[in-house]
Parts: sequence; C-alpha cells; structure tokens
Amino acid sequence: MSDAFTSQHQVCIAGTGSYLPEKVLTNADLEKLVETSDEWIFSRTGIRERRIAAEGEYTSHMASKAGAKALEQAGIAADDIELIIVATITPDTLTPATACYVQQQLGAPGAVAFDISAACSGFLYAMKIAKRLISDGAFSNALIIGAEKLSSFINWDDRTTCVLFGDGAGAAVLRRAAPEEGSIIATEMGTDGKLTHLLNIPGGGSACPITIDNAGMNLASLSMMGKEVFKHAVNRMKESAEKVIERAGLKPEDIKLVVPHQANLRIIDAIADRLSVPHERVFVNLQKYGNTSAAAVAIALDEANRAGLIQRGEHVVLVVFGAGLTWAAAAVRW
Ligand code: UT7
Repeated sequence: MSDAFTSQHQVCIAGTGSYLPEKVLTNADLEKLVETSDEWIFSRTGIRERRIAAEGEYTSHMASKAGAKALEQAGIAADDIELIIVATITPDTLTPATACYVQQQLGAPGAVAFDISAACSGFLYAMKIAKRLISDGAFSNALIIGAEKLSSFINWDDRTTCVLFGDGAGAAVLRRAAPEEGSIIATEMGTDGKLTHLLNIPGGGSACPITIDNAGMNLASLSMMGKEVFKHAVNRMKESAEKVIERAGLKPEDIKLVVPHQANLRIIDAIADRLSVPHERVFVNLQKYGNTSAAAVAIALDEANRAGLIQRGEHVVLVVFGAGLTWAAAAVRW
C-alpha cells in the first residue's frame, strides 16, 4: 500500500523523543548466561550491549517518557494532543491498549488512544495512519510511539535470540504544517502473511494460551528463523526505501540521512550499498541498544535529530522491517 502526498493538509514531524532504561546488559554479561561470545555477537550483528527495563517498569512507562520528551520538543502540551498511537508487540496488558495507559500517564484526556501491532515496522505504520488522519482533517496533531519491553518475551536460555533484543521507546509528534515547514512526503508499507512462521511469539494468544501444562516450554518467547528473515529484510527494505525515494522525487545524493530499523549491522550495510547511499549517511545505534523492535527506528530518529544530523529542509528516509512479515518506509523533508 502506498501514497504520494495528495491530501489537503501537509503533515510535519514537530518533535521527537526517546527513553532507554538505565540497566545495561553487555555481551560479556550474556557470556555468563548462554554459550556465546562478544566476538560472535558483534561480528554477526554489530551489537555490543542493550538496555533492560527495571522491575516494575512497563512498556507504557517507557512510552510515556519518550512521548513527554517529544511533546516538549514540539512545544505541545499533553492536554492539546488529539491522538496517541502506540506501536508495540509487548503491551502492558492484552487489553486495554498500552496507549490508554500512556494517555493517563501523560495527562492527555482529550486524546483518542489505541495500539497497533506490526512488530518492528509498527512505528512507520503508526506514522502513516497518523499522517493520513491529520491530512484528512480528522485530527490536527498526533503522538506516535514505538515502545517495547522485549526482555519479558525472551527465552534467556536461547542464544539465537536472547543476544539480539533490548528494551526502550521512541516517539514523534506529528502535526498539520504550513507550506514552508517540513513534511512527510511519501510513505510505503507492505505485509506478507505467508511468512508468519519466520518470526513470532507462538504462545500467550488465543491460539496457544499459556497453561500449567505448557508453562515450562517458553512459548511466550520470541522465536526466529534468522537466516530467512535476514534475506527478506534486505530485499524488502531496499524495495520500500526505493519506492519512497522515487515518489518523493529524490536522488541518493539528496538524502541527508537514512534511518533504518536497527536489527543487524550487516543488513544495514547491505541496504546502504543497494541504495547507493554512503555508509556515513546511514544512522546506526544498534551497538548500544540491540534490536528494540517498534522502538528502534523511533529511538534512532530521535538520536539523529537531537545530534543535529538532520536540519530543516533536509531529507531523511526511514525504513523498517519485522515480523508479519511487515515492512515500511517514509521520506520526510525535515
Ligand atoms: O527485527 C526483525 C528482523 N530481524 C532481523 O532482521 C534479524 C535477521 N537475522 C539476523 O540478524 C541473523 O540471521 C542472526 C544474527 C540472527 C544470526 O546470524 P547468522 O549469521 O544468520 O547465524 P546463524 O543463525 O546461521 O548461526 C550460525 C552459527 C550456528 O551454528 P552452526 O549451526 O553453524 O554450528 C548457530 O548455532 O552460529 C550459532 N549461533 C551462535 N553462536 C554463538 C547462533 N547464535 C549464537 C550465539 N553465540 N548467540
């Protein structure tokens, strides 16, 4: 599904924010848990360490902290926010939505709040939904958040997954923009439901509730066929980034920064090569945080923004990939 910008109202990113829990889990720490090594993890993924939420710190808490920072940067008070979308696969509870807790925690009683589940692609799915709802005139602003507490859904005995993931949250405020301001120029997203088996959390839903009989089987933990996912990730992210770049009328040299999903440095490097964008114009922070699923691209965007790597009028391309399989991209004039 795709759209070039054709609607009434232009929509800009007015502020970004992120939050990472304090606790750091290094590759050396993981060497004590499973049979692995810093050398294996770093050379295969680029990850050195990740953050782990504290006891009693939930996805909504991280989401609210990231959201508050985005609101502050946008100069919008919580009571003025009209829409909150949280993208997560690790909600506080199956129902109500994590976005409802966030609405309460932020003090945003006027906001319509709901979650979306699109795994690592969730933040850009949320961006497209919010952009469309604002451009159509239904809302004048929105707070979109990617937030995950993946540490609660990891089998800490499984070395093929536990070294990859981390906790955190990233957010952006979208609002109606004047013509001279920046805008989300083009968006793209896609899904391939034939490949649900490649990456999933098999238990804990209605298909496979956790019971006394299966409680010891780690079914409510992430399971991934890494090599297969890798191939699809490179191809889909390349294709969707190319589509938004073309629709936005950009050439590789016009792109100030590509901000990709942070799962594996080898995937990021392969995409940079295929898009003909120099590696120094591709933002990478996965060495610090690992893969934080829906939060990853949002945290990366906030860090790039706050580091001054994207200035007004410059173009940034966001591109993501995750379970579903799902993928998405956006071209933004800052
Ligand atoms: O965010 C959603 C999207 N997710 C992704 O994009 C992830 C995509 N996939 C990947 O990033 C990579 O496939 C992984 C990092 C998950 C794995 O890297 P790989 O190069 O595909 O390794 P592999 O799975 O083929 O495993 C190679 C070897 C195996 O041993 P044998 O069979 O060759 O003897 C594994 O058992 O490495 C072994 N291995 C490990 N060794 C040390 C697997 N995990 C570990 C580990 N430490 N943590």
